[in-house]
Amino acid sequence: MSARLVVLVSGSGTNLQALLDACADPSYGAEVVAVGADRGGIEGLARAERAGVPTFVHRVKDFATREEWDAALAEEVAGHRPDVVVLAGFMKLVGEAFLAAHGGRVVNTHPALSPAFPGMQGPADALAYGVKVTGCTLFLVDAGVDTGAIVAQAAVPVEDDDTVESLHERIKGAERTVLVDAVGRMARDGFRVEGRRVLLGR
Ligand code: GRF
Repeated sequence: MSARLVVLVSGSGTNLQALLDACADPSYGAEVVAVGADRGGIEGLARAERAGVPTFVHRVKDFATREEWDAALAEEVAGHRPDVVVLAGFMKLVGEAFLAAHGGRVVNTHPALSPAFPGMQGPADALAYGVKVTGCTLFLVDAGVDTGAIVAQAAVPVEDDDTVESLHERIKGAERTVLVDAVGRMARDGFRVEGRRVLLGR
């Protein structure tokens, strides 16, 4: 019985693509059952459609309030009965209703070594700070911004001639590896949380 993944995206969806490719191997132990986005017309949705995966779009502006958007998103995701929800470049903060419905099984990938450089500009902040090593963090989403318990991390070197784009591309390469490995292990072997520590395997 493969684990059911719902993936939320906002952009190019290269992290989603890595999961779709991994799920094509039955031994991976998971399947992407739906892909959602907060906007239409993005490559992430096109990747899902090419893979024959159902998609949905929930735009904040289509709802009277942010809370209604959050509750509707939570309900839509719940309808796909996810074992794990993956935020892969999803550029909206999920709220109370979403976390009430799915908390504890929502992972997000952040392009920095948490707790350093939270927020929307991780690679740019790392470059501006002058760090020699940055990386990526997969964590369980909580009510904060990139503050949840860490599932997995990988270090990525910063090169002297890096731009934000070249650094982010290198980080995204690491993110895809970390995401596929960790989500696969969560799917096949389960996981538990002890305080701020996430332990993979039963
Ligand atoms: C990733 O680096 C993710 O951590 C960040 O946005 C990027 C999304 O890339 N939030 P993609 O859409 O998966 O290609």
